Amino acid sequence: MENLTDTKPVVSGNGKKEELIRFLDEKLEKGYYYSALMAILHKAQEIYGYITNEAIEEISVRLGMPTAKIWGVVTFYHYFTLKPRGKYIISVCLGTACYVKGSKRILNKLKEILDIELNQTTPDGLFTIEAKYCLGCCGLAPVMMINDKVYEKLTTKKISDIISGLKAESVNKLS
Ligand code: FES
Repeated sequence: MENLTDTKPVVSGNGKKEELIRFLDEKLEKGYYYSALMAILHKAQEIYGYITNEAIEEISVRLGMPTAKIWGVVTFYHYFTLKPRGKYIISVCLGTACYVKGSKRILNKLKEILDIELNQTTPDGLFTIEAKYCLGCCGLAPVMMINDKVYEKLTTKKISDIISGLKAESVNKLS
């Protein structure tokens, strides 16, 4: 297959495209093409927060793969998202053990505090609420994860405190 590593990157100014291109180039230098697609898409989502048109175009050019094929992969796997997500991804468990222990109340409280629905992101880009159906720690129900951290034995009061804490943390980081 034609080596596409000499393709000149288009500078986007925010550094994300350049980071993706560096990752792509590493894969191409090691001789990976189609076999690296999943790893590249994971990296693109990590960089942008979701799969962007820009990422698809760049991957298509570098791998010599039609964009339609890449879109096919992206839309097949639920893990990939096509919408911007928040800095904090809140995954509320609605699996049986958590549901019995009141996770619906937890979800409703989150929706009320953040004023968004499931699978939506707050306008400030901070929070996205998603549902999961067992996070593997049923004994601690009801649980949720925020990014990689598990929050256990939740109550509506705990939810208010957690969200307030994260908002304060974000403000402090900006100041
Ligand atoms: S059902 Fe919620 S962690 Fe298993």
